[in-house]
Amino acid sequence: MKRVTIRVPATTANLGPGFDSFGLALNLYNTVTLEEQDSGLDITGCHPDYTNRNNLVYVAYKAAMAAMNLPVRGLKIHIDANIPISRGLGSSAALLIAGAMGANALHDFPLTLKQILEITTPLEGHPDNLAPGIFGGLTASMTHEDKPLSVVFPLHPDWKFLALVPDFPLSTAAARAVLPQHLTRADAVHNIGRGALVLKALELGDDELLSAAMADKVHQPYRKALIEDYEPIEQLVKSNGAAFCLSGAGPTLLCITRNPDLQDILESQLRTLTKATWKVLPLKAEHRGAQVL
Ligand code: HSE
Repeated sequence: MKRVTIRVPATTANLGPGFDSFGLALNLYNTVTLEEQDSGLDITGCHPDYTNRNNLVYVAYKAAMAAMNLPVRGLKIHIDANIPISRGLGSSAALLIAGAMGANALHDFPLTLKQILEITTPLEGHPDNLAPGIFGGLTASMTHEDKPLSVVFPLHPDWKFLALVPDFPLSTAAARAVLPQHLTRADAVHNIGRGALVLKALELGDDELLSAAMADKVHQPYRKALIEDYEPIEQLVKSNGAAFCLSGAGPTLLCITRNPDLQDILESQLRTLTKATWKVLPLKAEHRGAQVL
């Protein structure tokens, strides 16, 4: 039977003020192979807890098959995951994209990328990690009349993205549970201007504007208590002139810089500064979304 392999990039969501809207694809990948069979579901390459019908690849595969009016029979899934789980780097979005794109590729691509986004968004709850994983690059998304709409924005080529990944996970549900239901007008105004200016700073390669515009009042102030080392790391990164934000819901912290020495500086100083162990992952923007290999 036909077999397809889909490679999906990691993504960092929010980028400071763009809560549930902004996202960026990074050059770290999950690769998933799907092969239909007469019956049964066989999943390999992941923890036994995920080898069942709740597996996100399978859930999205089924949703895409329903959208194409095709019956679901059996499926083999093999997952080769490099995106760390529950770290704020879009691992669940990558699996959903792989499932929906896999179904599409197995049936000669009747679905557009926009439809893949529409099928996967209700499964993830928000489009911010999905859009860059599907379209690549820097994206901003919104929901309009119950459907996601996403646009790809220009990105200066010189940015380096350092993902600081801790040795502990943080579930998105826990990181959303601490957020308030209501915002003050002042906090909303604070984020509206910064959202527009973050996108412009990322386009221009303007470090100073980016650092100022990344300050957020919608989610980061509430989430930082969940990450013990957040404040000392924030200070260290900012004192080196880099922009700083939480990657998605965390716990990964993201530094955006044009300074080639920042990685060495962080690696040497983090060890003495923090309680947890933090790995510095040097990443680049990925301008291609999910690919059929
Ligand atoms: N925008 C989401 C959040 C990303 O911050 O909760 C994580 O799924």
